[in-house]
Amino acid sequence: MTPPRFDALAPHYAWIEAASFGGLLQWCRTALVEDLADARRVLILGEGDGRFVRAFLAHNPAARVHVVDVSPTMVALARRRAGSGCGCGSGCGSGPGRERVTWQVADARAVEYPRAEYDLIVTNFFLDCFGPDDLARLIPRVAVALQPGGRWLVGDFRVPPGRLAGAASRVLLAAMYGFFRLTTRLPASRLVDPRPLLLARGLTPLRAESRLGGFLTSELWSSPPAPSTPIHREERSALHDEGPEHPWR
Ligand SMILES: C[S@@+](CC[C@H](N)C(=O)[O-])C[C@H]1O[C@@H](n2cnc3c(N)ncnc32)[C@H](O)[C@@H]1O
Repeated sequence: MTPPRFDALAPHYAWIEAASFGGLLQWCRTALVEDLADARRVLILGEGDGRFVRAFLAHNPAARVHVVDVSPTMVALARRRAGSGCGCGSGCGSGPGRERVTWQVADARAVEYPRAEYDLIVTNFFLDCFGPDDLARLIPRVAVALQPGGRWLVGDFRVPPGRLAGAASRVLLAAMYGFFRLTTRLPASRLVDPRPLLLARGLTPLRAESRLGGFLTSELWSSPPAPSTPIHREERSALHDEGPEHPWR
């Protein structure tokens, strides 16, 4: 399980992105951020250089966030971004976001996720870092960390429907995977659609926004609500023994 190395790329990540996609990837990360204002316990996997977490903290005044990213340099950049806004103008990292975020430099595949801890999980351009086997192992492990009724934000590339759009996106994705495999030793060599794995864990799509004909999508998924507590047999017979007829009998 060799982790990719995003450290050398990290300081250049934002300008390379701007040169290739303009503001479209930041649009994708934050397209549904206004829907997340009520989240309180948040897990962000593969945050990168902090542009999502900064926007999220600005929209959500109360959430506590845990970030996991394997790259120490990405985490250092994200920490600065999340903590900026203190007003001193130096990017000193002491802004209001600082106390609300905890940071973990780790391979997300090796993390032990606490059960039913988070009401929001965020994976922006992160699930695309994994091949089919890794993804099939990772998604169920991460899904246990979601509370019943919790949400999972997935911002990522998709192969759009239609022959021409599909073919064009495959060419672009092949070039991107070539670049990332060269610069970061990314283990994945092609885009794997995570949606069947999310559906298999009982998650359902709530909302989606897309651009470039569906090449960029931001999707919000919901985990199933907690099952209602079953009434035990003794409690049920007690209900029968006393009181008037109830409509649920
Ligand atoms: C393609 S970048 C995406 C960064 C950011 N989320 C974005 O929207 O641009 C992937 C990020 O995930 C991190 N990453 C990749 N593989 C990882 C792994 N196995 N465990 C934890 N983080 C990982 C990288 O360090 C990098 O910050």
